[in-house]
Amino acid sequence: MLKNFWWPLAFSAEVSRKPIRVTALQEEFVLYSLPDGRANVLSDLCVHRGGALSEGWTQGDRIICPYHGWEIQADGACVRIPANPPDFPVPRKARVDAYPTVEQMGWVWAFLGDIPDAERPPMPALKDAGAAAIITGAISWRAPYEQVIAHMAEPEVAALALDGEFAPTAAKVSGASSSTGEWGARITATLTPPDRIERSLLGLVKRHAPSAPCEALVAFHMPCVTLYRIGDDHMMMAHLPVDTETTLTKWMIARKTSQTEPEIAHRRMAAALERMRPRVEGQPAPQNAIAQACARLRDEAIARGWGIDAHLIQAEYANIKAVVIPSPARREVPELAAAWVMKEVPTVKPRDA
Ligand code: FES
Repeated sequence: MLKNFWWPLAFSAEVSRKPIRVTALQEEFVLYSLPDGRANVLSDLCVHRGGALSEGWTQGDRIICPYHGWEIQADGACVRIPANPPDFPVPRKARVDAYPTVEQMGWVWAFLGDIPDAERPPMPALKDAGAAAIITGAISWRAPYEQVIAHMAEPEVAALALDGEFAPTAAKVSGASSSTGEWGARITATLTPPDRIERSLLGLVKRHAPSAPCEALVAFHMPCVTLYRIGDDHMMMAHLPVDTETTLTKWMIARKTSQTEPEIAHRRMAAALERMRPRVEGQPAPQNAIAQACARLRDEAIARGWGIDAHLIQAEYANIKAVVIPSPARREVPELAAAWVMKEVPTVKPRDA
């Protein structure tokens, strides 16, 4: 699990004035929209006694903790403590971590880390596919997120973007080639669907007719995104590590045309992913070009000090004290350095990578 990357935490449609909790990287976040419609992401640990802000409510640009009513503004600073007299200043250490947040192509992305803007790895460059139909969903796997990425990076998985025309496992893959970039890798391949069954007019004679092959692209972008293109159809998946053994894959399909009702398309996709469960959870990660790039880029990030030591957190911090992913304000405002109540997540030592 890595800090200092843009993580796609939710679909834009999931975020409203009513706060929601998202668990990722073994941490809790609260997502809600501000009065002007922009999404905002904070650590979901109230600085007072660790209550869940996601159980509270919004008021103007503030989120109100449901336990003792502390009011936290969008940048994470507490601006009102109801139990204090009105002229009593709010202590500077009363603040939670607030993460830079942008919305792009229907997703809410939060920068979970503390490095300056100029040093941040980019988000993937997503193009507007001009989709006529958008279908979204999610599936939880009992598998580490890098294992899920490796399985979902196989070229035939791109067939999921099509409207159930053929199952990924039924496609023949040929002519695969790969390339790697600074923050990801891509594989292109030709997928040949299984033969079509054609029947004579009276339905008495049937014959197998070859289907037209199609070009598929699978791209991976750090830290957890797989992108697919096949024909005019696009798909993006975000593989969020909930903890070291659980991954939540959120998927969004954008189709140029679709004759299928969204509910039926959703059901087909959910069933297709469910059929992949034995492979994703039970078989070793395939060593495709994307899996190799993912491992290399992960090691490079750990060497930069960006690896979160999830095992140390589980072993030493669970139920004792909470730790949070540091936000940019921790570096940007030096006079606040000693003000943070919640300690930062421990990081993996590069030599352990
Ligand atoms: S725990 Fe949030 S105000 Fe007390």
